[in-house]
Amino acid sequence: MEKHWKVLITRDIPQVGVDILKKHCEVDTNTEDIPLSKSEIIDKLRGKQALCCIGTEMIDDEIISSEPSLKVIANYAVGYNNIDVEVATKKGIMVTNTPGVLTEAVAEMSWCLLLCVARRVIEADSFVRAGNFKGGGPKLFLGAEVKGKTLGIIGAGRIGTEVAKKSRVFNMRVLYYDLVENEEMKKIGGKRVELEYLLKESDFISLHVPLTSKTRHLIGEKELGLMKKTAYLINTSRGAVIDEIALVKALKKGKIAGAALDVYENEPEITEGLSDMKNVVLTPHIGSATKEAREKMAIMMAENCIAALKGEIPPNLVNPEVLKK
Ligand code: GLV
Repeated sequence: MEKHWKVLITRDIPQVGVDILKKHCEVDTNTEDIPLSKSEIIDKLRGKQALCCIGTEMIDDEIISSEPSLKVIANYAVGYNNIDVEVATKKGIMVTNTPGVLTEAVAEMSWCLLLCVARRVIEADSFVRAGNFKGGGPKLFLGAEVKGKTLGIIGAGRIGTEVAKKSRVFNMRVLYYDLVENEEMKKIGGKRVELEYLLKESDFISLHVPLTSKTRHLIGEKELGLMKKTAYLINTSRGAVIDEIALVKALKKGKIAGAALDVYENEPEITEGLSDMKNVVLTPHIGSATKEAREKMAIMMAENCIAALKGEIPPNLVNPEVLKK
């Protein structure tokens, strides 16, 4: 069978996804896995019908408009704020994402970060490695207990809801802020509240909103100022949901107890001040980085891509308006 479609995969994704694509297409993969520059993406995209990219690559008008035969942009991520969907839609290009398959991985990572920052695990680990452990001490690395505390979930979609469900083992009170009521949250006793109330009441706040013009800097100086001095902020969503300069100031002034971040406002840059603070845990955008999730994402991305190339409706189309074109 002649493989008449050509696909660019910008990063080294799990082989299962590449193999699916290879059955139908000629595949050009960036196996070196060093991020491609914008001009490299444009160069490699020449003559291709599909672009498979990851969630931290900015796929803007210039890239999208550079290749007239482009039919689909298949994102290897659930969040798709990195893609100019409006431009893609105008040009009749389908955009797809990978929802659901990474919910568990990201929810587990959110809990991992929460517990790490609350119990000062990273600080304690460095202490032991530096040879400073001379026997336990009653006041060594005192942290915060989780049981019975209040968990504030901002964004009660798939991931936020899963994070909330896992709090049942700690018998926590759950508050959530979202535009709509969530039945799953109701079942576990979660209460939908105004953002201000959630910020004032919560001991742990975990962010799970997509990045849009409405959620950019949702957590800024004012919001951080409303939080308890003993509260922790966890972010596995998108960096720019937090105004990081305001966060550094709040942490320096002791307005909150700590933060654990997997995502950054100007990724991969880390805002000055963050890495100097011991009460901050920093991980390199690995929320969905389990072998299981990353393989399922690769399969989903490939299936979306092939469906679009065949002229079918991909299972995870984010811009259905494109079908009217
Ligand atoms: C990861 O950040 C994703 O959106 O899948």
